[in-house]
Parts: sequence; structure tokens; C-alpha cells
Amino acid sequence: MKTVLNIKNLKKTYATGTQALTSVSLEVHKGDFFALLGPNGAGKTTIIGIATGLVIPSGGTLELLSEDAFKFPEKSRRKVGVVPQNFNVDFFGKVFDVIVNQAGYYGIPRSIAIPRTKKILADLGLADKINTTTRELSGGMQRRLMIARALIHEPDFLFLDEPTAGVDVESRRSTWKYLKTLTAKGVTILLTTHYLEEAEQLANRVAIINKGTIIAQGTLSEILALGDGTPDEKLNDGFHSGKLEEVYLKLTKQNSDLI
Ligand SMILES: Nc1ncnc2c1ncn2[C@@H]1O[C@H](COP(=O)(O)OP(=O)(O)O)[C@@H](O)[C@H]1O
Ligand SMILES: [Mg+2]
Repeated sequence: MKTVLNIKNLKKTYATGTQALTSVSLEVHKGDFFALLGPNGAGKTTIIGIATGLVIPSGGTLELLSEDAFKFPEKSRRKVGVVPQNFNVDFFGKVFDVIVNQAGYYGIPRSIAIPRTKKILADLGLADKINTTTRELSGGMQRRLMIARALIHEPDFLFLDEPTAGVDVESRRSTWKYLKTLTAKGVTILLTTHYLEEAEQLANRVAIINKGTIIAQGTLSEILALGDGTPDEKLNDGFHSGKLEEVYLKLTKQNSDLI
């Protein structure tokens, strides 16, 4: 199995003194649908920021698509797509222009960019929004627009930072379906999400991070197996959820008990 993202002992302390990552090691393989799960403030966005050259690490190594991301950031970046956590698309731009302009940043000729834009927008259910101004789109459509923008240069690796936060169920399902077709083609996806059900449906491998430390990592079935055994009385809050959610709560709770 080819490792396409190899993170070793990654550390980050922000200028404010916040230690966002204590020592994170992660391995993502080609074609993985990898879910990085953890509570708010756990360090998920920091990891993506470091991998994509937006955040400077305080220590450790990170290799992305066989390139040292710190030494050759632009080399790996050309093969990487990112959907950031927050909407950062020009509010007054038209859907079609946002995508074609992005293609321009990668030097893709318009003769290729235009048909590719139409295809990606259609695949993501935005075909009839081509001439719509981005601020007129629903939250779910804005997310899908950011996915289209991240894919226009046909990256080998896609980072999705909470791509379905605040997105309605129908939109979420169609996005999942589309993302699955990408991994089937060999694209690798690293997804962060608060929806444990989403990770359970999509991911083949999972890591759980809490307070800057990875507390579990493995295949989805290995992680689910951590929930086997005696039910945790502390978690008996009367609610029922998917199995991954139960494991997640158990592990993040145990982890905070130690502190
Ligand atoms: N630019 C920044 N400056 C200072 N602290 C930050 C910055 N970005 C994130 N943090 C802090 O680092 C920690 C991890 O944040 P983040 O990586 O955004 O977590 P997550 O994405 O898992 O919610 C949090 O305590 C957050 O407040
Ligand atoms: Mg985040």
C-alpha cells in the first residue's frame, strides 16, 4: 500500500502559546477515504493547514505525495485540493467564473477549463446554477461549489475540512456519493467531520484526535471494535447513536478523564 501522506511527530504551538499539536503521527494510503475526527479545537484544521503550507509547524515531518511539504510546498500543492472549513469564495462572483478562474491559477487553458467546469458543476448538482451569484446559493450549494473549485485541477489528494457542516441531508448524501466516485478512481481523501455517521458511511480508515494528540487510528472496523465489551456506564445518557459515535464518545471521554 502506497503511503501518500506521512506525518511524523508533528508539533504546533501558535504564537499565542496554544499548543495545538503535541506530537501527531498519521499515515494515509493511496485511495483511502480517511476520516480525521475530534472535538472542536482538537487540532484538525491545524494539521490540514500544515499539510497545505498555510501553517508553519513547530516540529516533526510531513510528506505529501512523496514530497517534503516543508521543503517543496508548491510541488505537492499542485497535486492537492483543499476545501476549507469556512466559505471563502467571492460573494459577488458567478458560480461558473469562480471555477474557471481557479483553473486559470493552475494554468489550465480555457479550452479545457470550460468543459471541465461544466462537467464538475453538473456532477455536483450545480448545473442550473452556472450563472448564479455565489451569495445566492444555499449553504449546501456553497459547500459543493468549494468542492468543485478544489477539484478543477484534478488533484490526487483532497482535503475536506468539515465539508458538510450545516448542509441538509439530501445535499449531504449526494455529496457523499460523488466523493465515493473519486476514491474509486484512486483519489485520496482526508475528511474532517463532526458527523460520526458520515465517517462511518464513508471512511475506510479513521483517526481520532483530542487535544492535539491522536488517541486512536486504524481501519474503520478496528476502530469500531474498540467499542466492544462492557458498556461504559458514564456514557449511559439515554441516547442511542451509530457505533462509531459510541466509540468516539468513549475514547474522547477516557482521554479527558486522564487530564
Ligand atoms: N491562528 C491561530 N492562532 C492561535 N491559536 C490557534 C490558531 N488556529 C487555531 N488555534 C488554536 O489551536 C487549537 C486547535 O485548533 P484547530 O486546529 O482549529 O482545531 P479543530 O480544527 O480541530 O477545531 C485550538 O485551541 C485553537 O484555538
Ligand atoms: Mg477545524
